[in-house]
Amino acid sequence: MALVKSLSVLPTLEDDLSRLEQILIDSVIAENDYLTEIASHLITAGGKRVRPGFTIAASGVETAIAENVSRSVLLGGVAVELVHLGSLYHDDVMDEAELRRTVPSVNALWGNLTAILAGDFLLARASEIAASLGTEVAGLLAKTIGELCEGQILELQSTFKIDRSLDSYERSISGKTASLLATACKIGGLTAGLSRENIDAISAFGHSYGMAFQIIDDILDLTATDEELGKPSGNDLIEGVYTLPVIAAFSTKYGDELEALLGNEISLDERDRARELIRKSGGVADALTRARHWTSQAVSSLDCLPDSEATTAFHAATEHLINRASSTTFDELNQ
Ligand code: IPE
Ligand code: IPE
Ligand code: MG
Ligand code: MG
Repeated sequence: MALVKSLSVLPTLEDDLSRLEQILIDSVIAENDYLTEIASHLITAGGKRVRPGFTIAASGVETAIAENVSRSVLLGGVAVELVHLGSLYHDDVMDEAELRRTVPSVNALWGNLTAILAGDFLLARASEIAASLGTEVAGLLAKTIGELCEGQILELQSTFKIDRSLDSYERSISGKTASLLATACKIGGLTAGLSRENIDAISAFGHSYGMAFQIIDDILDLTATDEELGKPSGNDLIEGVYTLPVIAAFSTKYGDELEALLGNEISLDERDRARELIRKSGGVADALTRARHWTSQAVSSLDCLPDSEATTAFHAATEHLINRASSTTFDELNQ
């Protein structure tokens, strides 16, 4: 799994994640076998488990030498991954995406109505688990689901808008992505009973990391292939979602041609032409600079935490994130 690479300096993580996997699988068993099959679909398909990995790592930032985590921490990680999964079921309906985690998406296999219901079921199971962890965790997860919806709605409101601003983009990704990464870390801190100060620092880390994470995902949508991603690439332009590299490209000398191409539905040929212009414009490199801004924010949030293997793992994960995009955009950056 790619995550194990990025957090691999944490010696107990692999073991904790395999304990978590069993709880995750069990958590989506429904009375109805058909619902169980649909709700399990993307769990067995794979995924990096970034969010539960962060929950586990966050719980250990006050322990110098890593130890296996408690069942409450694992349940916290499961709740967070279930919210992520539910959001993916719904996101693939919204984006009309047919591939996810290298397999056909839930909407592609069973249709939109079933995908929406199964996504709701995953959110419900997440809420039930969060409630068993106390009112603060339950309230936090509910608030995060609300923020996710706010972020997705902002994105919908700006589709096909060629005047989308950096601020509008960042407000959207803060809600749809960074919020859950912050919560993943915070729940790790809450379920492990860390000090308030350390809980605040680790959730600030998660938020900034999440901002960079979505910017990198948006860069990869323009630079990587379906095979590399295990999900459709180039889909954002088709759906009218103008992400940071596109926003940056609008204000370069390629902006006029790009504006003439975008702003409405486009063909696959037009999409390829737009991708080429964006890459040539330096928009990808600009977006990578902004992602680096967020990773340095993330790293400075780690400064006040005690030295621990978990804190070192967060440093390594942050570096791995930037390297992931830099390797695929190397050619553009060197033009
Ligand atoms: C995909 O998240 C959705 C985004 C917020 C970009 P991940 O990249 O963590 O997806 P999985 O869990 O590995 O499939
Ligand atoms: C992230 O946005 C989706 C959620 C946070 C639910 P994207 O639409 O960019 O995610 P991918 O690229 O489909 O994974
Ligand atoms: Mg999507
Ligand atoms: Mg994307």
